This record gives sequence, C-alpha cells and structure tokens, in this order.
Amino acid sequence: MKWLKLNADQIRKGQVPRMTIIDFQKRKASGLPISIVTSYDAWSARIIADSDVDCILVGDSAAMITHGYSSTIPADISMMVTHIAAVRRGAPDSLIIGDLPFLSVRMGLTEAVKNIGTLIRAGANAVKLEGADGNFELITHITQSGVPVMGHIGLTPQSINVLGGYKVQGRGEAAAAKLNEDARALEESGCFAIVLEAVPSELAKRISDALIIPVIGIGAGAGADGQVLVLQDLLGLNTQFTPKFVRKFLDGARLIRKALNRYHEEVIKKAFPLEEESYE
Ligand code: KIV
Repeated sequence: MKWLKLNADQIRKGQVPRMTIIDFQKRKASGLPISIVTSYDAWSARIIADSDVDCILVGDSAAMITHGYSSTIPADISMMVTHIAAVRRGAPDSLIIGDLPFLSVRMGLTEAVKNIGTLIRAGANAVKLEGADGNFELITHITQSGVPVMGHIGLTPQSINVLGGYKVQGRGEAAAAKLNEDARALEESGCFAIVLEAVPSELAKRISDALIIPVIGIGAGAGADGQVLVLQDLLGLNTQFTPKFVRKFLDGARLIRKALNRYHEEVIKKAFPLEEESYE
C-alpha cells in the first residue's frame, strides 16, 4: 500500500489522496495504526492538515474546550455546523468526521436523517454516533444512504447522567461482554470504525482483535488499531483536568503564557512595535 510510506509533504504534492473511509480497513489489515485528532476551527485544522495526522474529528468536546461548558450535553446541531464548516475551510482536503450531538438522532428517523444531512452539507465526510442500543437500524439506514458512520462506545460523555461520572467502562465480566457484543453489532450495522473510550487495555485489545473494522482508542491502551486525542489535551493547552490517558506532546499553555508575557513586556517598554513593524 503506497500511502504507508508517504508523509504529509508527499500527499500535498498530489502523490496520493488524503486518507479516505476505504483506507480504514486497509490500514487495520496493514498493522499501521491510525491517528486522529480533534479540531473545531480553521486555523488549527490548517496546521493539522499540514501534519502527518491521518484525519480530523470535529468532536462535540467543542462544547467544553471552546465554549467552556462542563459537559458535551450543550452541543447542538447548529454549534457542530459552525465548527465543521470552519474546519472544512481550514482543511479542504482532509477526512473530517463530525460528531452527532446529544439527542440529535433520537427524535425519529426523519429528524435524524435531516440532522446528519446538515453535518455532511457543512463539510463532514462522515459522522460519529455515541452509544449502541437503539442506534443499529439508524446506522444501517444512513450508511446505505451514503453516509459513513463511526461508532463510539465505552465512556460515552453524552450519557454522563446515566453513567454517573467520567469512569472507566467495561470492568467486570458482564460489562465487558456487553461492550464486546455492542462492538460486533456496530460492525454488523455498517460502521467503518469504532471509538472505544476509557476501557481497560486488555478488553480493548480483545475487541480490536475480534473486529474487521478499526477500533480507535482514547484511554483504551496500545492494543487498539488507532488513537484519537483532543488537540488541546495533546498540546498541553487544556489547563483544567487532564485524564490519565492524555500525553502532553507540548507544554503549550506555559509556552503561550511566556509569549504573552513577552508581548506585554515589550509593549510597556515601548519596544514593540519597531519601525520595521510600522507603516511610513
Ligand atoms: O468529542 C470528542 O472530542 C470525542 C473524542 C474525545 C473521541 O468524542
């Protein structure tokens, strides 16, 4: 598979298209893990598109990260449309997965299809849907209608009121068996991939091994077929709670604070702007 050895530079030069939905299963079969990162705006989407990261998730975590809410529940279709459209403008050639927000597919098939169409028209190539029970028929219907669907099980933040907190899922035999069963049913319904969130590594590996479609882990260990992280978490920009599974690949908040303080200092010292930074 030629894309295995290509980097973002080569992709930009037109040697291969950006990753497509079809590549997900090929990537799993090749053993090369898939990398996904979130974005909610055009500027960060542009940077991600210029990196080697495989694709972008416009997550409903936008409600927390960008809008400052304490959960993803306040996200709605109009919020997701704004973020998806911005990300598409920043990353015209990237594979973009748009999150279906809380209850947006639970008001009947017609309303669900309408909401899914709205996200696709805003610029998403695929949608992500939290939860399994009650979603199987819809997943089959929309995949047969031309919309690729990514499932999301384990810790599903939209169900936080049912789950009773942000806790590891799938502990104990019955809970593990239910996750296994849900994953298989999502694959059978037509999902092209599944996000598995906050699940013990050994269970995540077992589920990944049992499926043909890739399992994308977040807090699910190294045995998954790929990983997804929130951009602000991996860049160290989220100064609030950091879950155990997050690795900060940059101390972003400290670096930004340092730059802001330097700017402030130069302003008060009248060292900024210089003549060459001003118009004659
Ligand atoms: O909304 C989101 O960012 C997500 C990921 C954390 C998987 O669903």
